[in-house]
Amino acid sequence: MNFKNKIKVSPSILSADYALLKPDIEKVKQGGADMLHVDVMDGHFVPNISIGPPVVKAIRKATDMFLDCHLMISNPYDYIDSFVSAGADLIAFHVESNSDIEKTIEKIKAAGVLPALVVKPATPAEAVFPYIRDVAMVLVMTVEPGFGGQSFMSDMLPKIKAIREKAEEINPQLMIQVDGGIDSKTAPLCVEAGADVLVSGSYVFGAADTRAAIDSLR
Ligand code: DX5
Ligand code: ZN
Repeated sequence: MNFKNKIKVSPSILSADYALLKPDIEKVKQGGADMLHVDVMDGHFVPNISIGPPVVKAIRKATDMFLDCHLMISNPYDYIDSFVSAGADLIAFHVESNSDIEKTIEKIKAAGVLPALVVKPATPAEAVFPYIRDVAMVLVMTVEPGFGGQSFMSDMLPKIKAIREKAEEINPQLMIQVDGGIDSKTAPLCVEAGADVLVSGSYVFGAADTRAAIDSLR
């Protein structure tokens, strides 16, 4: 098991106030967040629409935080350039999307941005095994993508463990992120299984004490 790396917290701005993004981002930065999780939804890959490249560009101007962009869109390959020029530091796209996985990873890498692959709850760990060597991070969805505030699916824990075990063999530096229903109770289960980047939306943004909430996840 690779627990050498620090556990990182990436608050999801899906639970922020979109009219108060700058102060909300500042609040999680001051609270000790390691990166910022930006959920992009196209109303097609998932039944919800959130934000796109213009908002990422505005966030880039507003903060120096590391921008972790989670693309829940059907054709990620076609939008890599837009998110790169908007200022993404990491681009995560779904293994279930329509784009060619290898070409999309290559395009992200060629732009000097970190590539990541995401798996939905119904997709097995094995779906990402062929790409573990080529990506910086795998994101294991612990809810069905599309909405914040859903309940954590504990049956995803063996998937995290399987990916961590495979990564130990071929890419020990691989980060494993979890997203959906992460709070002070579910975060330790994910860390125990091998996750090291914790996305949290409603728990962090809904907390009265942001720093205490972020600390309670680690
Ligand atoms: C869901 C998004 C998540 C969401 C998590 O599709 O990918 O990032 O914001 O929200 P919580 O932490 O409230 O489950
Ligand atoms: Zn997300």
